[in-house]
Amino acid sequence: MAFAKWISSFLLVLCLFEPTFILSDLSITSKFLEEANKPEVFNWMVGIRRKLHEYPELLYEEFKTSQLVRQELDDLNIPYNCSVAGTGVIGYVGTMKEPFVALRADMDGLPIHELVEWEHRSKIDGKMHACGHDAHTAVLLGASKILKAHEKELQGTVVLVFQPAEEGGAGARKVLDTGLLDKVKAIFGLHVAPGVPVGVVGSRAGDFMAGSGTFEAEIEGQGGHAAQPHLAIDPVVAASTVILSLQHLISREADPEDLQVVTVTKLEGSNAFNVIPDTVKIGGTFRAFSTIKKLKERIEEVIVKQAAVSKCNATVNFFDKEKPLYPAVYNNKNLYAHYNSVAAQMLGPLRVVEAPQVTVSEDFAFYQEELPGLFFFLGIMNDTHGQEPVHSPYFEIAEDAFPYGAALHASLATTYLSDVLGEVKNLRDEL
Ligand SMILES: *[C@@H]1O[C@H](CO)[C@@H](O)[C@H](O)[C@H]1NC(C)=O
Ligand SMILES: *[C@@H]1O[C@H](CO)[C@@H](O)[C@H](O)[C@H]1NC(C)=O
Ligand SMILES: *[C@@H]1O[C@H](CO)[C@@H](O)[C@H](O)[C@H]1NC(C)=O
Ligand SMILES: [Zn+2]
Ligand SMILES: [Zn+2]
Repeated sequence: MAFAKWISSFLLVLCLFEPTFILSDLSITSKFLEEANKPEVFNWMVGIRRKLHEYPELLYEEFKTSQLVRQELDDLNIPYNCSVAGTGVIGYVGTMKEPFVALRADMDGLPIHELVEWEHRSKIDGKMHACGHDAHTAVLLGASKILKAHEKELQGTVVLVFQPAEEGGAGARKVLDTGLLDKVKAIFGLHVAPGVPVGVVGSRAGDFMAGSGTFEAEIEGQGGHAAQPHLAIDPVVAASTVILSLQHLISREADPEDLQVVTVTKLEGSNAFNVIPDTVKIGGTFRAFSTIKKLKERIEEVIVKQAAVSKCNATVNFFDKEKPLYPAVYNNKNLYAHYNSVAAQMLGPLRVVEAPQVTVSEDFAFYQEELPGLFFFLGIMNDTHGQEPVHSPYFEIAEDAFPYGAALHASLATTYLSDVLGEVKNLRDEL
């Protein structure tokens, strides 16, 4: 995942709001932040993150990472399920009874060669935690530690989801398929955000991050001699009109106020100057919010029908197995209000900003298809770190951000169980 530059916009869009949920225990957020800043939590999180950073593992191969998470949960005396969707781990803190609320971290690294010169640089050539999932894992462990220390106060169970394969592998979908989250009422997740100062967080209600998909089409004609086009069926010209027609999906069919993208990145034809090839391959990516599935259908229709105009046959592959369609990240409005109250309480309202919509994707969206969820960006920039975008070989994190992430995770879950669900219960009692 990569972020659009909202560094310049975040200062402009200060989100001043009316807290919808009044926290019953105002001291929780400051208490948790204080605990997250204590050396035994802060240094411990930093140590875990650096260990993970040195040994990044790619999607569905998070074996050492998973083992480290299990080891730490064992030390904290937190029970868990392991081998969830392969390498995933799901821990439990609280009453071990309903209601359940989940916190999620992803664990996978990227096939990128780290170019940052520092003590804890990746020791694996060609692999790097360039999206900050090492930090997400460390921060969720930090939250686990805080929650465990307050286990008796929890009015339900916090489900700690350490998932594999966010980067293109739809690990979230596989975690859901295990059924372990079936009783969960809500889920929270965060992503480190370069360009956003430490101590600032950003999110938005409703559509937040676009869904994305990948396509490849084979356009089949009939090859021949370039000098005798009338004896062939030319897939090159067919592919050209297909590519142009795909542009009209955005310029003529998409609502101008609705962010959508279709980009053709791949075009393969003949290798010779004088041969019309039998087939041409094109491929690319598309991004959209609520219309993503409809856009997918139209891409297929336009390719097949436009190819037919030129007497060619076309088949379209959306890589449903290898690169499944990621839905859009859609933040539940009530959870957004809850998050705003908690974050403003902890950081001050001026440090809780409304983020713009972005066209990058996150597999957190799979959870949000099945249950209410809230995803937010955690600032990780200071004077020297956190300016390079994610997925850059120069990506760095100001680790001072970790206590905010851990304390927010812990506070969101604790107050969700006590206040949000408590409120619903009270309303029911009144009826
Ligand atoms: C999860 O862990 C609990 C406790 O160890 C166990 O009883 C249960 O069978 C596990 N569930 C799955 C799906 O692995
Ligand atoms: C397209 O498919 C039809 C039906 O299979 C076939 O008859 C035709 O020859 C194909 N056309 C090309 C250009 O491959
Ligand atoms: C910025 O973050 C880095 C990495 O965590 C840290 O070493 C450095 O001291 C921080 N700088 C300031 C000015 O806080
Ligand atoms: Zn990423
Ligand atoms: Zn990421």
